[in-house]
Amino acid sequence: MIRSIEWRSGTVRFLDQTLLPSREEYVETADIEVLAEAVERLKVRGAPLLGITAAYGVLLGVRSLREAPLEGFLEAFTLSVDRLSRTRPTARNLFGALERMRGVVRLNPRCGSGALYTLLEQEALAVHDEDRRLCDSIGFYGAQLIEEGARILTHCNTGALATGGIGTALGAVVTAHAAGKRPFVYADETRPLFQGARLTMWELRKAGIPAALITDGSAAWAMLRKGIDLVIVGADRIAMNGDTANKIGTYQLAIAARAHGIPFYVAAPRTTIDETLPDGSGIPIEERTAVDLLGGFAAPIAPDGAEVFAPAFDVTPGALITAVITERGIHRQPYERSLREALAP
Ligand code: MRU
Repeated sequence: MIRSIEWRSGTVRFLDQTLLPSREEYVETADIEVLAEAVERLKVRGAPLLGITAAYGVLLGVRSLREAPLEGFLEAFTLSVDRLSRTRPTARNLFGALERMRGVVRLNPRCGSGALYTLLEQEALAVHDEDRRLCDSIGFYGAQLIEEGARILTHCNTGALATGGIGTALGAVVTAHAAGKRPFVYADETRPLFQGARLTMWELRKAGIPAALITDGSAAWAMLRKGIDLVIVGADRIAMNGDTANKIGTYQLAIAARAHGIPFYVAAPRTTIDETLPDGSGIPIEERTAVDLLGGFAAPIAPDGAEVFAPAFDVTPGALITAVITERGIHRQPYERSLREALAP
């Protein structure tokens, strides 16, 4: 089992994903700034994992003040939450986890620093533990949509590296594989940072699931020539009408899937759904730097100083999504109703 992140009673240990697949190296830190920078540099990434990381990050930010007067503790708490919320803008899970940590402080006004720290630690561990269970459940429902011998197209990385458990979209594939359904995966490389090539292919090999790597530009052709049966992707934020922000390239996959009559599924925990957004137009879209695009993980690929447009995510209209799979089940259109039902306590 891949442990992408771990809380070690005072330090966070995470797998530096920028070094994969060449090196499997872990970083252990007690410094919130090291962790925040790791998020910004995508050493730790994937929407659910960002939520878990943010929760642990808050602990690092307040830990040294657990014996200090409450005022100082609360000041450090606010600074920590602010710092972590400035790391990456798109994944709903990151902000949801920070809201949960804020809730602990709000609901326990009479606690001293030490007691509050203990409650915050329990909450962060719960965020992690819950995600593990959500993944299992998403895997269970997602695998029901995968037929024996299915050829599945994936995008980016949505496995154990991106979550606290077996993954979301990739978790469904892993679950189908474990059930003996013999899936075959076509993994999009996922430009510009190659999460599909570097991370998904690495995870699939570890899991013994047969797979072929394709360039992002090959997806429509693979649908036609390789008989893709379904596309399944993860999500960073889902609006209430089903509009879904996910790794750049997802939108065009959904269009190509529609053109070929192939089902297009989004698998994500409810912590990815943003109840405040009626549609995807308000989702903040992170952009990558010119450095990332021009040579982040490869030798320079364009003339020095070339101008770039490098969104890290796009928004797929809910109308192109066959179903959204959460830990609660399989939700179909109209999403305004089915996602509302999914969010009901
Ligand atoms: O930029 P990344 O690597 O954090 O982007 C990750 C994705 O787009 C995933 O598809 C999404 O976060 C879901 S991960 C279960």
